[in-house]
Amino acid sequence: MPRSLSGRSFLKLLDFSTEEIQYLLQLSKDFKNLKRAGVPHKYLSGKNIVLLFEKTSTRTRCSFEVAGNDLGMGVTYLDPGSSQMGKKESLEDTAKVLGRMYDGIEYRGFDQKIVEDLAKHAGVPVWNGLTTDFHPTQMLADVLTIEENFGHYKGLKMVFMGDARNNVANSLMVVSAKLGINFVACGPKANMPDKKLVETCKKIAKENGCTITLTDNVKEGTKNADVIYTDIWVSMGEPAELWEKRIKLLKPFQVNEAVMKNANKDAIFLHCLPSFHDLETTVGQEIYEKFGLKEMEVTDKVFRSSQSKVFDEAENRMHTIKAVMYATLK
Ligand code: CP
Ligand code: NVA
Repeated sequence: MPRSLSGRSFLKLLDFSTEEIQYLLQLSKDFKNLKRAGVPHKYLSGKNIVLLFEKTSTRTRCSFEVAGNDLGMGVTYLDPGSSQMGKKESLEDTAKVLGRMYDGIEYRGFDQKIVEDLAKHAGVPVWNGLTTDFHPTQMLADVLTIEENFGHYKGLKMVFMGDARNNVANSLMVVSAKLGINFVACGPKANMPDKKLVETCKKIAKENGCTITLTDNVKEGTKNADVIYTDIWVSMGEPAELWEKRIKLLKPFQVNEAVMKNANKDAIFLHCLPSFHDLETTVGQEIYEKFGLKEMEVTDKVFRSSQSKVFDEAENRMHTIKAVMYATLK
């Protein structure tokens, strides 16, 4: 049993020990069982939380809202553009004000430094709902989904395909190192994770008996993989002009049937979502008109296949976020 997480912020997984991450996963399973059995769990009734979003969201926002309500808490949502932070009021002052009214603060936005500074000044737990560098709550849902499919995660091989220097890829590398999962970043040399972060993760991985590999060889990278993971090619906050360059650079790393065939027979496909796997979005349609591409980081066939566990993964966002809030606020 790790030391209590009560009062801690959840900013990046590098701040948490293997045992603490395992504890959060166990708690997530417990909450999922309670929810499935219809057992009320308003353990945090009387508390209030605020969700500060400087970027858009479906899953993360809804997970925090539903989890907050299930735990009996009051929830305030501040959408991108509707708070004073950064425009008319400093981050420090905003953090101090919110900390006087709320028991916990979720932040989604830009630099990792913003969420770290919020936590420094708020005096209450702050949870990172995605920054440019990391997406730590996503990782708990991903590992929970892996565990549900394989019965364990230690020793498995997980391959991230595509823009391997983004927030999701960075966080997957960290969580893999912490939990003993062999991690492969499979993408172009120009889009590999930050060297310093790779070195840090390699050290952690060594302690936990697993490996971190960077490769631009799809065949080698995905061979014997248990989990194939991808994410959109242009992240929130990046300029739309990047699409052309990224399509050229990342098309060879698209998750398609050949990739899934090269992986283990019982391999699963994961994606944090949202995903461009068809033409049913305005951005997808625009890309098609400009570049003639009908599907991007993953083909529609793989996305809809039985190997794809993306909607279990999306549901698990809620159970895992509930665990993080409960553990840090109880
Ligand atoms: N995966 C994820 O964070 O989704 P949203 O952007 O919809 O929150
Ligand atoms: N890398 C993506 C993740 C979205 C959940 C982004 O930052 O837009």
